[in-house]
Amino acid sequence: MTDSWDTIADWYAGLLRTGSAMHEFNRDVLLGLLPGELGGCRVLDLGCGEGIVARALAARGASVAGIDPSPRMIEHARAAAAGGPGTVTYAVDDGCVLSTVAAESVDWVTAGLSLNNVPDLDAALTAVRRVLTAQGELAFTIPHPCFEAPHASWTQITDRPVRRVVGDYLAEGFWRSDNPEGARRAGNQHRTLSTYLTALVRHGFALETVTEPSPSDQVAAAQPHRAGLPPFLAVRARRAA
Ligand SMILES: C[S@@+](CC[C@H](N)C(=O)[O-])C[C@H]1O[C@@H](n2cnc3c(N)ncnc32)[C@H](O)[C@@H]1O
Repeated sequence: MTDSWDTIADWYAGLLRTGSAMHEFNRDVLLGLLPGELGGCRVLDLGCGEGIVARALAARGASVAGIDPSPRMIEHARAAAAGGPGTVTYAVDDGCVLSTVAAESVDWVTAGLSLNNVPDLDAALTAVRRVLTAQGELAFTIPHPCFEAPHASWTQITDRPVRRVVGDYLAEGFWRSDNPEGARRAGNQHRTLSTYLTALVRHGFALETVTEPSPSDQVAAAQPHRAGLPPFLAVRARRAA
């Protein structure tokens, strides 16, 4: 059977429920792009998966709508209590369409490790722009495209530190990891850094923040070879007039 996000949803939810330093770090980096207090804010979490980001947004007081095209992910998200002062609702939807979300109805769109899964970035940014209010903002993380390019791997030459080996950075498009323990066995869409940034500008977004965070202490403890490389690219962009 070929893996998809729906077929690995049980595995993914289990991974996050037992505690994944990398996914918790990603959540914290993404939320670091937003205000600490989100009471009264409406947030769409695009590609919410099992809800790790949506729950954290609700804990800050936001009214959150989480969407994901995987019905099984949405089942997991609904089963996990949100908690906090805010609310969360979930729907099966495609981030390239956002058919369940009204125009100009949200103040923020968050997308944690999901825009690198949408097959059509232009369609997704068109949909995001449509649902944001005039002052609305998009905050997203993606695996850092320079270091998480297709089939990037690790190597160690005797007595030297482990190093990242990257090829195929310019090979944009769908690829699937052959690591049976990795999330990207479900496949993902590789795009260069310039493709992401120029797409944002082309779709009428103004860049507010671009960060390349160092691994957290927890990530560094779990995966010491990641020291010195940012696992994610984090971007915050405002809907321009
Ligand atoms: C790595 S998971 C991230 C989930 C969650 N945001 C998190 O931080 O754990 C990627 C998610 O992107 C979703 N996805 C795939 N295609 C998508 C699309 N066209 N629109 C929105 N989300 C999509 C997958 O179903 C999956 O839940």
